[in-house]
Amino acid sequence: MRSEYNKDIYIRHFNESDIPALLDLVAQIASSEDLTESAHIQFSNELANHDHEGSRFVATVDGIIVGTLGCAPGPIPSTQALWADWLIVDRDYRRYGIATLLYSLIEKYALERGKRYLCLDIGNIDQERAAYLFHLRNGFQIVGQLPDYWGDHEHLNIMAKYLTSRK
Ligand SMILES: CC(C)(COP(=O)(O)OP(=O)(O)OC[C@H]1O[C@@H](n2cnc3c(N)ncnc32)[C@H](O)[C@@H]1OP(=O)(O)O)[C@@H](O)C(=O)NCCC(=O)NCCS
Repeated sequence: MRSEYNKDIYIRHFNESDIPALLDLVAQIASSEDLTESAHIQFSNELANHDHEGSRFVATVDGIIVGTLGCAPGPIPSTQALWADWLIVDRDYRRYGIATLLYSLIEKYALERGKRYLCLDIGNIDQERAAYLFHLRNGFQIVGQLPDYWGDHEHLNIMAKYLTSRK
């Protein structure tokens, strides 16, 4: 696949050998807690469970992993929805359309399974401006907020996108 970036960007399903690179990406998320442990457990469980509903993709440039995004039934499973998670693009490769490419595959995956919605917990929209603006630009809306859900000033913000197939 080629975006506006002048190098080829490849998107593929992740595998076990990708986990260290994915954890390096997770470490780039600004957070007061270490997120790598929970990410490691989740990624390993997904690979071990062959009945797992959901998918996880990696984006590569010159064979190097520069981005990732997955989807899963999430905290409130429904036949109508999947939850996107762990969207991260390496800080040296942002604004080249990589997250947009990753989402196009996740949306295709969800539509092929008859899903109506993609949802996510966007986190703190005051701190995560790039993520918030990216999702707005890509058709997501805030559909719910629980103030201080994760702690003081750490609101739970749920964003969702109604999926329509592009034929
Ligand atoms: C959010 C993130 C995944 C975006 O990845 P990306 O590959 O740079 O996104 P894209 O290049 O596909 O951006 C598409 C559009 O989204 C918007 N956007 C993306 N980053 C933006 C930013 N920092 N500020 C404003 N708008 C932004 C723009 O409209 C952009 O189009 P443009 O570049 O033509 O103006 C990336 O910044 C990131 O990894 N952030 C840290 C991790 C994170 O917050 N993850 C999300 C958790 S929910």
